[in-house]
Amino acid sequence: MAVSAVPSGSGLLVDMPGNAQLLVVQPRSGEFRAFNPACPHVGSLVNPPAAGVITCPLHGSTFDPSSGAVREAPATSGLTEVALVRSGDDLVLG
Ligand code: FES
Repeated sequence: MAVSAVPSGSGLLVDMPGNAQLLVVQPRSGEFRAFNPACPHVGSLVNPPAAGVITCPLHGSTFDPSSGAVREAPATSGLTEVALVRSGDDLVLG
């Protein structure tokens, strides 16, 4: 995926093989992270970051877009990070 496809201060959900999705975020300019977007509460898809926070629309848990750490319950654990490496103008799974 192209680095330019990931909006700064936000991110996007990316379709992966096998019906899976990946949340790729750029919480600060030039800082890229990827997470499994399944909320650790009961598995709803979380939204890309807005106003500095990742929110689950189902019950309102929030997560830190730089680390995936949970900020607000009901989730009790953070999002699972997926290794992502920048290679020039592209982002590839590490
Ligand atoms: S499934 Fe995300 S807060 Fe409940």
